[in-house]
Amino acid sequence: MKITDFYNYKKPGPKISMVTAYDYTLASIAAESAADCVLVGDSLAMVMHGHPDTLAATPELMALHTAAVARAVKNKLIVGDMPFLSVRKGLRHAMDTVELLARAGAGAVKIEGLDGHADIIAHIVQSDMPVMGHLGLTPQSVNRLGGYRTQGRDQASAEKLVAQAQELERLGCFALVLECVPAALAGRVTNLLKIPVIGIGAGPHTDGQVLVMQDLLGLYGEPPSFVKKYLDGRALLTEALNNFNNEVKSCVFPQAKRKDHANSERTEAVESAPYGAALRG
Ligand code: KIV
Repeated sequence: MKITDFYNYKKPGPKISMVTAYDYTLASIAAESAADCVLVGDSLAMVMHGHPDTLAATPELMALHTAAVARAVKNKLIVGDMPFLSVRKGLRHAMDTVELLARAGAGAVKIEGLDGHADIIAHIVQSDMPVMGHLGLTPQSVNRLGGYRTQGRDQASAEKLVAQAQELERLGCFALVLECVPAALAGRVTNLLKIPVIGIGAGPHTDGQVLVMQDLLGLYGEPPSFVKKYLDGRALLTEALNNFNNEVKSCVFPQAKRKDHANSERTEAVESAPYGAALRG
């Protein structure tokens, strides 16, 4: 899926599926999957680095993970998140961050919010870096919002969100993420905008859905209630590790008759690439 394909998803028909990826291994699985596009989200600060929120993500950290994902994903659009404060320290800092992400492999950036940085969004769009907007529950605003709560519940905040969504479209955003807003409000915004709206915890009426990969695979603790777990990954991986542990303890693994890599003609390859690739070959 290319950026120009996004507009086709406004028509009735298939919806956009976007998944996060932060590392080479899971990104390579996303690349092999039918998912439409990949988001290197700043939730990596939590999922990959154990922080309590996304505020710890920096431009350098986002670029590091984007580069790892880009080494695996050659066939889909990679959207890189602009991290906390990156659009609030002036145009130069914002453009430096865009450049870092673009050079790392992002084909578009996602920016939370609008108020106070509309001019920066416009400048990024006009600089030919496509921008995905992000409204509703914007996790970088967790301290102002006082927690992770559904947004746009009352009339005033719903109207404000609708106006902001229209403004982001006017500024040239190619898509909009709506996070944790009532389904009816997400449906209203979806019907109003010409650009596709991708929901997360925003009900079924949007043009697409995005989930954190570790959430949908059941790898990262207890996910929010709107997440559907497509796998109980934690239980499966723990079972595999326990099986490994048991077999080591009981001397079942390694089997004596297995090929001993240290004594095989493949020693050289193993020495130069000790993990995965060489051993599988
Ligand atoms: O960082 C993130 O994971 C996001 C979500 C929309 C999935 O921004």
